[in-house]
Amino acid sequence: MSPFTAPTAHLDIQLAPQPITPEERIQRMQGLGFGKVFTEYMVVIPYSEAGGWGRGVLKPYGPIQLDPAASVLHYGQAIFEGFKAYRQPDGHVKTFRPEANANRFNASARRLAMPEIPVELFVEAADTLISQERDWVPSAIGESLYLRPFMIATAAELGVKPSNEYLFIIIASPSGAYFAQGVKPVTVWISENYVRAAPGGTGSAKCAGNYAASLIAQKEAKEAGCDQVVWLDAVQRRYVEEMGGMNIFFVYQEGGKTVVVTPVLTGTLLPGITRLTLLELAKSMGYGAEERRISVEDWQTALKDGSMTEAFACGTAAVITPIGVVKSNHGQWVINGGEAGPVATRLRKALLDLQHGVAPDPNHWLHEVC
Ligand code: PLP
Ligand code: COI
Repeated sequence: MSPFTAPTAHLDIQLAPQPITPEERIQRMQGLGFGKVFTEYMVVIPYSEAGGWGRGVLKPYGPIQLDPAASVLHYGQAIFEGFKAYRQPDGHVKTFRPEANANRFNASARRLAMPEIPVELFVEAADTLISQERDWVPSAIGESLYLRPFMIATAAELGVKPSNEYLFIIIASPSGAYFAQGVKPVTVWISENYVRAAPGGTGSAKCAGNYAASLIAQKEAKEAGCDQVVWLDAVQRRYVEEMGGMNIFFVYQEGGKTVVVTPVLTGTLLPGITRLTLLELAKSMGYGAEERRISVEDWQTALKDGSMTEAFACGTAAVITPIGVVKSNHGQWVINGGEAGPVATRLRKALLDLQHGVAPDPNHWLHEVC
C-alpha cells in the first residue's frame, strides 16, 4: 500500500496504475551494485522565471519529455547531488545530512546561473519519495537507497544565456558497493595529461560537465589498469586535489600521533560531505585531522620514510575505499602492502555504524524520514 494518496504541502501524488509486486521488487534488489536499479517513483518540480517553483508531483518513474532545443542539451546547465537513506535497527529510515546536500546543490546552482531551491522543499521532496519507496531501502550495513536529485535547463531557446525554465527531479536507486570489488583497495591513476578544474572554473560545483570532461582521463586510467583517476591542481600540476567522484585522505604518523590529512579546499575541488564528516569523526576518535596541500612528491616521500601509512578515498557512493596502488606516467608505488589499513577500516566502520543508527549520533546528522 502506498503511504501517500493525498497531496503534500508542495507535491501532488500520481500513483502507478500497475504497481510493482513485492516479488518483483525483491528480485530487482538482488546483487545490488551502484546506480543500475531504479525505484518505482520519482519527484518532478518545475521552475519558471515568471512563476518561481511550481507545484511538483510524485509520479511513476519514467522518461521525461524535452524539446530538442532545451538548453541543457546544448549548453549543459545541469547540476546534481547524491545522498543516501539508511535502514535503522528499528526498521525506520533516515537520511544523512540532507540539508548539507541541499546547500551544496544551491551553491552549484549559483555557479551555473540556475535558480536555488528552498532547502525545505529539497528535503520535503526527498522525504516524500523515500517514504513512498521505503520498501526499497535495503537493510544490510553498507547498502542504502541512493538519492539522486538533479536540475536541468528546459527552455527551448538557442541563445547562450541562463534558461528561464528548469526541472528539479529526484530519482532513487537501491545501492550496494560503488566499486565492484567491494572494499578491497583500489588502484589509482595520477592524471598528468588532463585536469579536472582550474581556478575560477566549476570544480567546486557538482555540475554534469565536470563529469563529462573527466571521462577521457577515466578511460586512460582504465587502460593503465587503474580503477580511478587522481586529479592534480591545474596550475602547478603538483598538488593532489581529489578523485573522480571522491575526496582523498592520507594517514600520517606524526610525533607518535595518527593524523588524517585531506587536501585543503581551494575552490577547485568538491567540498565533500563525507570529507567534512570524516574530519569531525576522526577527531572524535582521537586522531588528528587536518586540511593541507599535499604534492605528489610529498606523497611518495612520506610513503618511503614511513610517515604515511595509508591513503583512502571517500564519498557518498564510495563510502571509504582504501587506495592500494598508485600509478602514473613515471611508475607506481604500493601503499600498506596493497591492503586496507587499520585507520581506513576503523573510520569506515564508525561512519557506517553512525549512518545505520548502530552508533550514537551526537551531532544530529541523521534526519528521520519514515
Ligand atoms: N568529489 C567529487 C568530484 C564527487 O563527485 C563527490 C561525490 O559527490 C565527492 C568528491 C564526495 O562528496 P560527498 O562526500 O559529498 O559525496
Ligand atoms: C556520490 O558519491 O554521490 C557521487 O556523486 C559520486 C559519483 C557517483 C558521481
